[in-house]
Amino acid sequence: MGRKFFVGGNWKCNGTNEEVKKIVSTLNEAEVPSEDVVEVVVSPPFVFLSLVKSLLRSDFHVSAQNCWVRKGGAFTGEVSAEMLVNLSIPWVIIGHSERRLLLKESNEFVGDKVAYALSQGLKVIACVGETLEQRESGATVDIVSAQTKAIADKVSNWDNIVLAYEPVWAIGTGKVATPAQAQEVHSELRKWLHENVGAQVAATTRIIYGGSVNGANCKELAAQPDVDGFLVGGASLKPEFIDIIKSAT
Ligand code: G3P
Repeated sequence: MGRKFFVGGNWKCNGTNEEVKKIVSTLNEAEVPSEDVVEVVVSPPFVFLSLVKSLLRSDFHVSAQNCWVRKGGAFTGEVSAEMLVNLSIPWVIIGHSERRLLLKESNEFVGDKVAYALSQGLKVIACVGETLEQRESGATVDIVSAQTKAIADKVSNWDNIVLAYEPVWAIGTGKVATPAQAQEVHSELRKWLHENVGAQVAATTRIIYGGSVNGANCKELAAQPDVDGFLVGGASLKPEFIDIIKSAT
C-alpha cells in the first residue's frame, strides 16, 4: 500500500551526556536505507532533546516521550507541546503503556493528549496494547480497539499519527509477539480504522509494532503485511538498532 516504513527508538529513562553522544555517533555513522524507504525517529529523555537534536544526522528525526495535555502553565514537572515545538522537536510518543499503567493515564486522557499535541503541530506516535491478563482472557482486540477509539473520538485528522501496537507482555520481557500475533492485531486495528474512521485513513496510517524487537526477530515481523515498522526500546540503545532500521521493507 506504499506506507513508508517507520522505525522509532524509545530510549525511555536512560542515558548520560556521554552515553547519548556515543549512541548518536553510532547512528550518524550508520549506512541505512534512504528517507524515501524508512523514517527514523529517536526519542531521548526530555533532558537530552536539544543535545540529540543538535548532533543527530539530518535524515533522522527527534521525538519526545510525552507531553502535557493542554497549554503550559502551573503544571509542575510537565513539558508542554508548545515547548517541544519551540525546540523544533517534530514528534512525540503519547500513551505509552508504562505511563498508562504507572501514571494511570486513561484512554480519554491519552485521546486528549493526542488531540492537543496534533493541534500544536506535533506528529504523534500513539501507543496501544493489552496486558497479559487481557490477552489470556481473549480481550486483546476489545482493549486495543477501545484505546484507539478514545483517540479517534478526539481526532479529526490522522495524517500525523503513527499507531504503535505494543503488547504490554512483550515490553522489556524478551517475549516478542510472533509474526502471526502481531499481524493479527495490526490487521484488526486497520479493520477498526476502516470501519470507524474511513478507508483512506485505514490504508495510509502506519501501524508499527513494539515489544522486544531486536536485530534477530525484526525481519520476520517486518515481512507481515500490516506491520509498517517498529517502536524499539532496549535495542534502540544498541548498535543493533541499525539492523532494525535496515529491516525496512
Ligand atoms: O516503546 C517501545 C518499548 O515499549 C518496547 O520496549 O525494550 O521491549 O523493545 P522493548
